[in-house]
Amino acid sequence: MADKKTVEDLLADEIKDLYSAEKQLTKAIPKMAKGSNDPALEAAFNDHLKETEGQVARLEEAATILKISAAGKKCVGMEGCIKEGAEVLGEEGEPNILDLGIIGAGTRVEHYEMAGYMTAISLAQSIGAKEVVSLLQQSLAEEQGAEHKLRTIGSGLLKSASSAHAAGKA
Ligand SMILES: [Fe+2]
Ligand SMILES: [Fe+2]
Repeated sequence: MADKKTVEDLLADEIKDLYSAEKQLTKAIPKMAKGSNDPALEAAFNDHLKETEGQVARLEEAATILKISAAGKKCVGMEGCIKEGAEVLGEEGEPNILDLGIIGAGTRVEHYEMAGYMTAISLAQSIGAKEVVSLLQQSLAEEQGAEHKLRTIGSGLLKSASSAHAAGKA
């Protein structure tokens, strides 16, 4: 574990953590896309995969500005979120209900990322690292957008799932 004495030390650690999380997601998101039944959900994951690749590049850029290496840490929190997602992907049942479970897993991932970016942004702001703040804010906005998109698709699926349930009862 790195010796943390300054805000800079902690920021370096947060950048490494985010970098590990994003790298893990570039491998996990294609599986989420493939496991989705709803075409809009699959497209949302594929779109966010492209954004995630850009986020990896932004973190590399931020690391260069801060004169640190982005590599060197494993984000075990994201590893756990991805494991939970894999559990959902292995299940069987009604396509809409399974998709809602995938959305639950995906939403958890986005919130975890948002918390990481918000933390890193606060630290970078406090040391006046403006370029780093701007890079991190762009990625945060993408995470927020992805989270919103997942929830919107989820609301639609939930409506059709509950109307199917109502029809079944009638
Ligand atoms: Fe991300
Ligand atoms: Fe994300």
